[in-house]
Amino acid sequence: MAQPFYITTPIYYVNDIPHIGHAYTTLACDTLARYKRLAGDDVYFLTGTDEHGQKVEKAAEQKGLAPQDFVDQVSQSFRDLIPAINATPDDFIRTTEIRHKQAVQHLWDELVKQGAIYLGEYSGWYAVRDEAFYGEGELVNGKAPTGADVEWVTESSYFFRLSAFQDRLLELYHQNPGFIAPQSRRNEVMRFVEGGLHDLSISRTSFKWGVTVPNDPKHVVYVWLDALTNYITALEYPDQGGNFGKYWPHAIHVVGKDILRFHAVYWPAFLMAANLPLPKQIFAHGWWTNEGEKISKSLGNTIDPIELVQTFGADAVRYFLLREVSFGQDGDFSRQQLINRYNSDLANAYGNLVQRVLSFIHKSCDGVVPKPQDLQESDQDLLNACMITTQLETDMEALAFHKYADHAWQIIAHANRYMDEQKPWGLKTTDVPRMHTILYALADTIRQIALLTQPLLPVASAAILDQLAIPLDQRKLVGNPLKPGTPLPEPKGVFPRYVP
Ligand code: ME8
Ligand code: MG
Repeated sequence: MAQPFYITTPIYYVNDIPHIGHAYTTLACDTLARYKRLAGDDVYFLTGTDEHGQKVEKAAEQKGLAPQDFVDQVSQSFRDLIPAINATPDDFIRTTEIRHKQAVQHLWDELVKQGAIYLGEYSGWYAVRDEAFYGEGELVNGKAPTGADVEWVTESSYFFRLSAFQDRLLELYHQNPGFIAPQSRRNEVMRFVEGGLHDLSISRTSFKWGVTVPNDPKHVVYVWLDALTNYITALEYPDQGGNFGKYWPHAIHVVGKDILRFHAVYWPAFLMAANLPLPKQIFAHGWWTNEGEKISKSLGNTIDPIELVQTFGADAVRYFLLREVSFGQDGDFSRQQLINRYNSDLANAYGNLVQRVLSFIHKSCDGVVPKPQDLQESDQDLLNACMITTQLETDMEALAFHKYADHAWQIIAHANRYMDEQKPWGLKTTDVPRMHTILYALADTIRQIALLTQPLLPVASAAILDQLAIPLDQRKLVGNPLKPGTPLPEPKGVFPRYVP
């Protein structure tokens, strides 16, 4: 039976069009989703847009548009990003959809039934940019710790009894050390919860753009309670059979470190209060800066992922973002560094290997897969170097995309070295059977590398597998060895060198 696997991106605010940070999270999730599908798992991959709240309402106002028209437009730009970066979500959820409003209201009713919600009055600081409340003690020079402007709010509000969940949350983190990853982030969250939790204001009355609170239409549901619910809406909650029963216990939420607290503290508390099972893991990745500066619209230094894929191709952007920085760490985006990596890792190391071997076979083996003779130790070493599926599985389970790539590129380096040492071109007139053996070992190594690079480089990997005439049913993480005598199509370069 295929193992169910559920992976989610955050749902992105539609106050503005997507930038490289949004593409990053989606690409990481996509790479893992593709890997799991190749490994034979039953994958459900969710992304979408977060469309309610004051921040979005204000953005619509500034554009002079009705909120619904505005969110329809901007949500579409997030939807358009998906094919551009070659992502393959199974569903795209919008919080303005009926299915979602119903799920939120149902969850609200459950929380009321469980006595987790009470009516009170909120007085405190609110940052619209973060859609978050802050305590007096958290402010830094009169601003939120994130640098966002805060405003003083006093309004009638429903509260969630978050303070009652401190012990249960700490117990969860202790008993389930993998619940929050990486470790350093887990420690931060634990220190925060150990410091004590205040009840959380979960409704607003000062604006209208949100899901209406059941039985009290003056209130709209706090945008984070609304947004987090998307993860179960998409699995057809409140129906707890079907997709919810199947996928929910296997859920991994991949988020940026900016929104870890909402996912690792509030979300499990809401679920516990509603007697719902918890997701398996929250993984918080790091933050990209642009040439050393925080990426922001106001600094005018956002990086457009669509422009990047138009210039370099989706594979190159996927590879660079996931290879350049270890997942979980912060990273600095540099266009020059993308070009360097593209030329060294993709064009030189990988592309060149494929090109050298396939054009050699095309010219010197009548365009068919050559027949190997007895394997020597060096041939066997190369083929053995391909047997790293257990290692790669470990890398993927840890969302260590950079290690996955690193391990795959070690085989590429090995193959290039082998070819330089074996010098098959020197055997053309002296020892054709040996030349065929070497070329076979190289071609079959390329086949195995291309299978393994599919999650990262879907387009190029498919092109390489096409050039090796690998049937579609032989394109899982491992497949059958090449059959000698198989006719091969004319080889074409897969990673042309980038010259600005
Ligand atoms: O927070 N580096 O939406 P959002 C890395 N709607 N990742 C980045 C990034 C950067 N510079 N900038 C953005 C929200 N991201 C809420 C989420 S979920 C129930 C609700 C990525 O549009 C990263 O994943 O502000 C971050 O967490 C997310 O975009 C924030 O997107
Ligand atoms: Mg944000």
